Amino acid sequence: MTLGYGVILLATVISKWILVVYLVKKGNLMELTLKFGNKVAVADVRKLHDMEDVLFDKEWFEKTEEINKDIYYMFRDLTKNDDDLEVIKGHHLRYDITVIPPGMLGLEYTKTVGHYHPQIPGTDISYPEIYQVLEGSATYLLQKVEHENEDVLLDVVVITAEEGDLVLVPPGYGHVTINASENTLKMANWVCRDFSSIYEPIKRLSGASYFLLKDGFAKNPLYKNVLPIRYLKPLDYNNFGLISGENLYIIVHKIEKLNFLTSPQNFLRYLTGMV
Ligand SMILES: [Fe+2]
Repeated sequence: MTLGYGVILLATVISKWILVVYLVKKGNLMELTLKFGNKVAVADVRKLHDMEDVLFDKEWFEKTEEINKDIYYMFRDLTKNDDDLEVIKGHHLRYDITVIPPGMLGLEYTKTVGHYHPQIPGTDISYPEIYQVLEGSATYLLQKVEHENEDVLLDVVVITAEEGDLVLVPPGYGHVTINASENTLKMANWVCRDFSSIYEPIKRLSGASYFLLKDGFAKNPLYKNVLPIRYLKPLDYNNFGLISGENLYIIVHKIEKLNFLTSPQNFLRYLTGMV
């Protein structure tokens, strides 16, 4: 290790701990940090102003004085120890936890911004993702659009999931997670670590194809066609050896089960028709 690299590493560790001490003093530790294994992770925070483009209730947003309010917390690239880290990185995967406290964004329930995943280089198949609800209740909205016309819907699926349930986002589906409950939602996901999510199409269309309000789903008029929602239930994914109720992190010990996330083109017979 060079001296310069050592100094940078030391500075990074010290600054992280200064942040943790600061958060403890502010009383925000519970929300902004997560103890995972023997490590403490610090959240990436989505604030209300980050959500502006995808909100149903623009009038409310214009009037609110809380644009810097925390909306949800993302703890990315979690590992319980250095051995797990090596295995996870070696398989090009990432394990994340997202925490979404309950609340309303004006007239709609709190939610994630929503995104698509890019295609695997050299294929026309995009990366899938697997979620598990750890605490609370989640409403997953999955949508598929025409490749050339992102405002033309091909499919809209809603899956409500409870603690332990698994939800697979198949290739080609954009996804938003909504917390329509009165409790904090905590969910985990495994996904390929080699790409960045694509946020622009959902932002350009002011959100996903539907917004969840207190009296049900409201259609987003910016999508050209009307497709009714298909309501589905969470499944076990026996073909991949994934069973609801089994903690998703422990797959790190049988990580080959997750090859479908990094090379979905080799698993199309299982992935097509998954929703
Ligand atoms: Fe995703």
